[in-house]
Amino acid sequence: MSATVIVGGQWGDEGKAKVVDFLMGGHDVVMRFQGGANAGHTVVTGAGRFAFHQIPSGLLYPHVTAILGNGMVIDPQAFLSELQDLVARGIDVKGRIHISSAAQIVMPYHRMIDNLLEADLKKESIGVTGKGIGPAYADKYLRRGLRMGLFLKDKAELFDIVKTKVNDANKLLVLFGAPPLSAEKVASDFAGMRDRLAGLVVDTQELVHDMKARGKRILLEGAQGALLDIDHGTYPFVTSSSCTVGGAVTGTGLAPRDIGRVIGIFKAYLTRVGNGPMPSELTGDSGNELRERGHEYGTTTGRPRRCGWFDVVGGRYSVLLSGYDEIVLTKLDVISGLPRVKLCVAYELDGRRVTSFPQNPEDLARCTPVFEKMPGWSAEEIKVDRYDALPAGARAFIERIEKGIGARVSFISTGAAREETIVRDGAYSFDRT
Ligand code: IMP
Repeated sequence: MSATVIVGGQWGDEGKAKVVDFLMGGHDVVMRFQGGANAGHTVVTGAGRFAFHQIPSGLLYPHVTAILGNGMVIDPQAFLSELQDLVARGIDVKGRIHISSAAQIVMPYHRMIDNLLEADLKKESIGVTGKGIGPAYADKYLRRGLRMGLFLKDKAELFDIVKTKVNDANKLLVLFGAPPLSAEKVASDFAGMRDRLAGLVVDTQELVHDMKARGKRILLEGAQGALLDIDHGTYPFVTSSSCTVGGAVTGTGLAPRDIGRVIGIFKAYLTRVGNGPMPSELTGDSGNELRERGHEYGTTTGRPRRCGWFDVVGGRYSVLLSGYDEIVLTKLDVISGLPRVKLCVAYELDGRRVTSFPQNPEDLARCTPVFEKMPGWSAEEIKVDRYDALPAGARAFIERIEKGIGARVSFISTGAAREETIVRDGAYSFDRT
């Protein structure tokens, strides 16, 4: 059984949690492949509101096994409190969560360094989430990181390793003029977590292949989005991992041929948290209106999201990077009821019209949007369950996006509830037993 990959098509926050929830009934395993506690997913069920950061949200389905893959950077303390919250709310997690022994650990000094580096950048800051993501990945590539396999060691050895690492990191903290951490305290906190984590840490590369061989239906869940990808995104205003489909291979140990389907998630408009160019951004009243209509505030940091019209140029680029078999278009309800809607179909750069996504951030920052205006449709008209029952204006909008980005929209989300999803003929079908 080949795996399905879900990735964000824009700058994150496209509504992936609802899509994972929608598709999970037809899958047995959900695996995160990159990022860490910078991600935030809110899922509302009959049992209330659940906020997920590191644990894949699909775990709310009792039949699902969740895996935190080797491509992630994991904050063990935050992980345990997320887990504890689930247990306290009656979710049976026993035997259902596995963590890759090769996933990197986010250490307390990574969080401190993240915030210190950000403060140092002042006006040029990236707008990081402050969860230690960049410094943890930096240590991974410097080959100085600690991996989750650490928790398989005995407590005394683990204590010594952590103490040495913290003492090393303190040399850097002192250079920043920051107070050093107590190496003894951090080491004893880590030793204290050992028994709760040891039973969850395994070599997930073999595990996921074994599950695949046993016919398990695997969903690989991406975090953030294509334009935040460390290689392909709007560098340096990006996160530190591979958010495009390539990350699903390196971050899990599955081979490209194990992937059967790639689904890109796009919002019907655009949002971005943090800094960096965003050509179709709406500032002033219209941006505020879109933010309020879409409740666009970050799940992880609570920051207001920057809002703008759907960017066809960035969307087309995202399609090139991940080769989506199909697209989910979310939050169509948010732009329904407006007298007219717009799409950014090209950029103007130094008097030239461009339709490819500039790699140079200064070029991208100088791009101004070329908008195409289209008539709006009413909010009531989209509460239908078939694509051809959607108002003509909404269909024209969707089909203009398809033509511009070169991918098919198969699912359309018209509200937060699971039922408020239109599945178009020919969409990926899966057995939801
Ligand atoms: P970091 O991932 O905390 O290093 O932040 C780098 C950039 O990615 C910042 O602009 C963040 O706002 C953005 N970012 C990180 N995680 C998310 C996310 O889950 N949704 C949207 N933006 C994110």
